Amino acid sequence: MPPILLCYASHDGHTRRIAERLAARIATHGHEADLADLAQRQPDATEIAAASAVAVVAAIRYGHHLPPARSFVATHRDALAAVPLALVSINLTARKPGKRSVAGSVYLRKWLKETRLSPEIVTAIAGKLDYPRYGWFDRMMIRLIMHITGGPTDPTVTIEFTDWEAVDALGDDIARLGAQPDVQSVDGVPDA
Ligand SMILES: Cc1cc2nc3c(=O)[nH]c(=O)nc-3n(C[C@H](O)[C@H](O)[C@H](O)COP(=O)(O)O)c2cc1C
Repeated sequence: MPPILLCYASHDGHTRRIAERLAARIATHGHEADLADLAQRQPDATEIAAASAVAVVAAIRYGHHLPPARSFVATHRDALAAVPLALVSINLTARKPGKRSVAGSVYLRKWLKETRLSPEIVTAIAGKLDYPRYGWFDRMMIRLIMHITGGPTDPTVTIEFTDWEAVDALGDDIARLGAQPDVQSVDGVPDA
């Protein structure tokens, strides 16, 4: 079976960990996952078309998914529209109940609108808060956002909000997505 292409965009490394965990989970289904750090390597349309499914996992900074993910999706929109697709947003808002779905996440709704894609899977996963790692300005800004949204503001704390069981369940869903036979062949006759 062709590999599942697992593309990610990470600034501070947490999204990379999530992508690696997804790849490991997908492997338990006997399915190979090709990891691509979009800041280093952007798979081309041929690679996308050859994949059994594609997942784009991208962190949010200041309201936007990271530029490497946005440019990748914009450049290869048509190729991505033709394969089973998962869009996964990593952000801190998703720590709150109800903010992981399209209905509850403004980031997911914006992403769908911006890309005009209709992925089979669209979800958000809570990321990591790491005040000591941030520079002065980012720390102040994130504290302000946390203050407004009722989150932790102690500038010494590091909190991983990620629900790793949810990440594993997502890995299972992506593996199933890659295992699906084409429902429609080119001539319009459903494949056996
Ligand atoms: C400078 C900065 C800006 C951020 N902006 C947002 C934001 O607008 N909304 C949000 O929900 N999370 C925001 N986050 C949280 C990140 O999405 C979260 O920390 C994520 O785990 C980062 O992933 P990475 O380590 O792969 O970069 C921000 C984090 C930083 C450091």
